[in-house]
Amino acid sequence: MRQSSLVVVANRLPLDDNVAPDGACEWRRSPGGLASALHAILESTPATWVGWGGGVGPAPALADIGTLRLRPVALTEDELRGYYEGFANSTLWPLYHDAVETPVFDRGWWETYRTVNRRFAEAAAEVAEPGAAVWIQDYHLQLVPQLLRELRPDLLIGFFMHVPFPPPELFMQLPRRVELLRGMLGADLVGFQRPQAAHNVAQLAGKLLGAKGADDAILVDGRVVRTGAFPVSIDVTEMEALSARPYVLNQARQLRHDLGPHKRVLLSVDRLDYTKGIEHRLTAYSELLRDGRVKVRDTVMVQVAVPSRERVESYRGLKDRIEREVGRINGEYGRVGEPAIHYLNQPFDRADLAALYQTADVMVVTPLRDGMNLVAKEYVAARADDTGALVLSEFAGAANELEDAFQVNPHDVDGLKETLLQALDAAPADLSRRMSAMRAHITENDIHAWARAYLTALDHTGQLARHLPRQ
Ligand code: ADP
Ligand code: G6P
Repeated sequence: MRQSSLVVVANRLPLDDNVAPDGACEWRRSPGGLASALHAILESTPATWVGWGGGVGPAPALADIGTLRLRPVALTEDELRGYYEGFANSTLWPLYHDAVETPVFDRGWWETYRTVNRRFAEAAAEVAEPGAAVWIQDYHLQLVPQLLRELRPDLLIGFFMHVPFPPPELFMQLPRRVELLRGMLGADLVGFQRPQAAHNVAQLAGKLLGAKGADDAILVDGRVVRTGAFPVSIDVTEMEALSARPYVLNQARQLRHDLGPHKRVLLSVDRLDYTKGIEHRLTAYSELLRDGRVKVRDTVMVQVAVPSRERVESYRGLKDRIEREVGRINGEYGRVGEPAIHYLNQPFDRADLAALYQTADVMVVTPLRDGMNLVAKEYVAARADDTGALVLSEFAGAANELEDAFQVNPHDVDGLKETLLQALDAAPADLSRRMSAMRAHITENDIHAWARAYLTALDHTGQLARHLPRQ
């Protein structure tokens, strides 16, 4: 087995399974997210990515992507249900997002979660060379840091939580709270999106483990675990380049024509998830139509909702409710050839997403809770001419950074309605000032800055930093 000095461990491999025209399944590099975040460093360091390939049954043999080796982890159908759909996405996901949907506690799922986390830890232990840095990602793998430390005490272990880490009152609901906290604190550095998360962990470590510490370091079991906020970002240069491509510009022109050349376009792009506040925004929009403050002849909404976690009960219920509501709104307010809302329950490729971003006068991002929300940052990156307005929930991690967005509390329907109108009616000079300030922020704090900040903090010896591209 070839070993690497840098190992990334994430639930998913950085791949999309793409069905070729002849029906065969081919693999290609996944765009966006963590894969592009780590692209620069993974290109210059012989690294291995440990992750699930997306199916069930024996893991497929996968070719390297450039210098990146892939180490697939196999899951059975039962494990997929217990670990991914169950404990990760029906217990932790809702609990960590303010319990906006009721978390389900199932003892069987916990056992499967532990078994699968052990499998990931064993795979990482196998491919890490002596003294390697291993960077574990997200709530699916919260036990891996400690399990890996037991197997390989020589490793430098980092953990990054992409989703919010909840306040102690919520975390305390977890029947296996001590194991979960201890598991994560097996890392040398635990990173979060927001400083509040590190504060929550310090409080919990004191309460549950009798650990001493502050918001940047916790002394647990005789070891110092460093913690901190490292807000994740996007590949701004890539989105800018994509947005300038002739195909995207043409596509944006076509979209505007199809939507109605003189209409103001509101856009939302989400995974179809109950944390995204889709229903709240539909309520606000529908009331604006009802009140006559927005009219279908001059305004149109586009809601992209990419299918997600479709076998999980709460996601199926949400899809039904949203589709009913969109149907009702179009039935009541639409006209022939002029729907109030275009609803697209499909994945889009990056170029088509960029075209949509360019078409939107107002981007509406209203999660009830979100670790970061990359869509908000992508919209800003796509608006090279500093036009367009971003309406952003204050409960998204991105709100900490994008202070010039039209920030809103999505639970306050009246406030949301007023903010939508404010964004629709804002003066171009105001919009330009806001957008240019937000663009400056994300340009400075892009995905490369994020990876560099985290890995430099993880590795104070400077071993990894040697491989990081210069700014
Ligand atoms: P989350 O991580 O909860 O899904 P984010 O907004 O942080 O939310 O990230 C979502 C990512 O998925 C973004 O990079 C966005 O471009 C992408 N995405 C969202 N909707 C679609 C879609 N319909 N097709 C393809 N990609 C999408
Ligand atoms: C969030 C999580 C990621 C996850 C993504 C898509 O961003 O933080 O870890 O990969 O949602 O969800 P999925 O369940 O399809 O991987």
